[in-house]
Amino acid sequence: MEQMSMQKRSLGKTGLQVSAIGLGCAQLGSSSIEYAVRVVRRALELGVTYLDTARGYRDAEIKIGQALQGWARDRLVIATKTGGKTRDEARQHIEESLQRLRTDYVDVCHLHGLRRGDDLEQRLGPGGALEALIQAKEEGLVHHIGCTSHRWETLVEAIQRFPFEVILVPMNVIEREPLQELIPLCQEKGIGVTIMKPVATGLLPATLALKWLLNQPIATAVPGATKIEEAEENALVGCRPIALTDGEQAQIEALRLGYERSRCRVCNYCTPCPQGISIGSHLGTDVMYDHYRTMGPAEFRAFAWSREAIERDLESRRKQIEAIESCDRCGRCEELCPYGLPIMEMLPRMLPAMRDMVAIYEELLSI
Ligand SMILES: NC(=O)c1ccc[n+]([C@@H]2O[C@H](COP(=O)([O-])OP(=O)(O)OC[C@H]3O[C@@H](n4cnc5c(N)ncnc54)[C@H](OP(=O)(O)O)[C@@H]3O)[C@@H](O)[C@H]2O)c1
Ligand code: SF4
Ligand code: SF4
Repeated sequence: MEQMSMQKRSLGKTGLQVSAIGLGCAQLGSSSIEYAVRVVRRALELGVTYLDTARGYRDAEIKIGQALQGWARDRLVIATKTGGKTRDEARQHIEESLQRLRTDYVDVCHLHGLRRGDDLEQRLGPGGALEALIQAKEEGLVHHIGCTSHRWETLVEAIQRFPFEVILVPMNVIEREPLQELIPLCQEKGIGVTIMKPVATGLLPATLALKWLLNQPIATAVPGATKIEEAEENALVGCRPIALTDGEQAQIEALRLGYERSRCRVCNYCTPCPQGISIGSHLGTDVMYDHYRTMGPAEFRAFAWSREAIERDLESRRKQIEAIESCDRCGRCEELCPYGLPIMEMLPRMLPAMRDMVAIYEELLSI
């Protein structure tokens, strides 16, 4: 097939042009610095110009800062995030992110992981994190203000209260809810729509899933890539025709139906669990577990992990196993899950892989 250049799209009314396929940088926190730098550089070579990172993605910002040495800063659009609640906390985060990324400004800074209720009130209210973003924008440290959430309803509320310029929301072949109300509202207001979880954390065939997304009214999708080959495959989708054939449409519909009742949306309607199990974090957003699921044990053992990432995961993984083992099958979570997920079957199914991960970590750390 004829090679084309990366498709560019407008990021809402920001005036920025971004690559239709960006790079989700949460996964960079898992690999060694040398390997992560190669992933970023390969994505950039293939035309990716949008990097979605966060202070919360372990040392991803530091790795990006290293990878970008020698690249023209003004050709890239960098979005980072602060999970800070207060003005002072968020201010400190912004300053640290700039240092870690080795840059004078970020194009977008998001309020990370907004939650409805007290969290939204605090962060958007007096003395809240949003005030730090507004001040940083006045000072030129942040060019555009955005917000992210796993729940589209929270983002609808946020953009009605403040003129956010960019949002990041999960959407994919299975999780299409943002298309109903959130995205039309963003189109009306000229807000740049960026998409996380575009390949449902690796459950979907990446090329097909990204092609489907690029047919939706979005600015950019930011698939995470642990391996260089994944970054390559994903970037190439933005360089090729995106029209879907009838066969692909049928495959997409089959995937949607197949995963409808097993894909966790991390909406957290099922919490709190009386045993303190973080249901949504395990089922929907457990990055290291997802690596194991995608790679299988042999590749997982051999991969170039960051030692710090596996030390940290070993510590929390043992506690997570204990937590899941403590499930007494009270059934409360299943009653509350709006998607009808069989949570009491899904959680214990993760245990053999988690125990194997612990064994692999112990082996790797003892070498
Ligand atoms: N703001 C937030 O609250 C938030 C939350 C989550 C994510 N995000 C952002 O969104 C980005 C993407 O979301 P996500 O990482 O959760 O989900 P995702 O992009 O749907 O899934 C990423 C995973 O899918 C697998 N994958 C990707 N490309 C592949 C390919 N070509 N072939 C085979 N497998 C492939 C990889 O699995 P393996 O790693 O297992 O190989 C990768 O880690 C993150 O990096 C981050 O920037 C933001
Ligand atoms: S069934 Fe298990 S996971 Fe669900 S709420 Fe009860 S203890 Fe928690
Ligand atoms: S299990 Fe259901 S309710 Fe709980 S976070 Fe996942 S989708 Fe939401």
